Amino acid sequence: MHLSREEEDILGGEHGVAAAKSMEILLAICKIFGAEKLIPVTSAQISGVSYKTIGDAGLEFLESFANDGRVKIPSYLNPCGMDLEEWKGMGFPKDFAKKQMKIIQAYQKMGVESTCTCTPYLIGILPKKGEHIAWSESSAVIFANSALGAKTNRESGMSALASAITGKTPYFGYHLDENRIAEVVFNVKVKLEDMSDFGALGIYAGGIAKQRVVAFEGMEDFTVDEVKALGAALAASGSVALFFIEGVTPEWRVVGNPERLEFGSKELKETKENLNSSEDAELIAIGCPHCSLEEIKEIAEKLRGKKLKRKLWVCTARKIKIKADKLGLTKIIGEAGGKVVSDTCMVVSPIEDMNFKRIAVNSGKAAHYLPSFCKQKVLFGSLKDILE
Ligand code: F3S
Repeated sequence: MHLSREEEDILGGEHGVAAAKSMEILLAICKIFGAEKLIPVTSAQISGVSYKTIGDAGLEFLESFANDGRVKIPSYLNPCGMDLEEWKGMGFPKDFAKKQMKIIQAYQKMGVESTCTCTPYLIGILPKKGEHIAWSESSAVIFANSALGAKTNRESGMSALASAITGKTPYFGYHLDENRIAEVVFNVKVKLEDMSDFGALGIYAGGIAKQRVVAFEGMEDFTVDEVKALGAALAASGSVALFFIEGVTPEWRVVGNPERLEFGSKELKETKENLNSSEDAELIAIGCPHCSLEEIKEIAEKLRGKKLKRKLWVCTARKIKIKADKLGLTKIIGEAGGKVVSDTCMVVSPIEDMNFKRIAVNSGKAAHYLPSFCKQKVLFGSLKDILE
């Protein structure tokens, strides 16, 4: 494997201990996947931010890395385990909050921006078609690859941090055009009406595709938010990192004889039923992936002048919440008894320690993870239905 002079220097410790360790990590990945070189990346998006997911060992590691580790490229954080400004009023445990703050501080010390969102592309972080990046949150990865046409593997939090510090990533997988070819094509025979339908399609297709590249035919009339819901679910039930939609995505590579399957009303109905395990909920949580401003507007419109009988979290990036504040949307949702929550989400926050046992969501990804990861029973449905 060829290393440039600079890469050799980093490995030799001339750029510090964290940089040398980062280079070791990247070279180990090269060895495992047969990558012959490292290539420069323009940004890193780093998961492994919630204290719930990385624990004390993760915190200790980050603090030691932060001694001399500094990022070389624009680098951004995935959601952490709580709303960094309003955690007290929301009932987050104090001990958890203390550790969570330390994790954020360690990342900040390294120069990582505390964006704390899984939708960096909604706050202006938009890599161009063909641009090589190192992102790790699976829904952000699949959106960047599929909707933007950027190129990233599904990095781990650790490898994305190593890329942030070195500015490099191993050249294999989705960085190569030869691997960006559909291996399974779904012909969508049913009209998808809302976000939960797109999530259900993603859960169904991801479960079959596993780690393969997916293509969809027959889909029409959808929004960017629905595409983000579809991708997040595909990446959750399978480990899909790239999909194409005929006539829509920047790439459409269907060649040879990929497996061909259909998704109709029967598959939609069954998938939605399988994701449901509750008829009621203590908490309604919208925003997996994080809500766009349009989604928050829609929720505010539905709640204007009404009172909720259950708690409601609307999870979004802080930058989007600031816009929602300015437009009076946070206030409308607040007056109905709901809360626009930033920096975190229903999956990576410790909701199981906050007296929630049943949760209502319109996200296929959240419905897939909440039972195992947060010990929740799930009411899965359209935004309209679960609010009602
Ligand atoms: Fe984002 Fe949390 Fe869902 S990180 S994709 S809102 S599980």
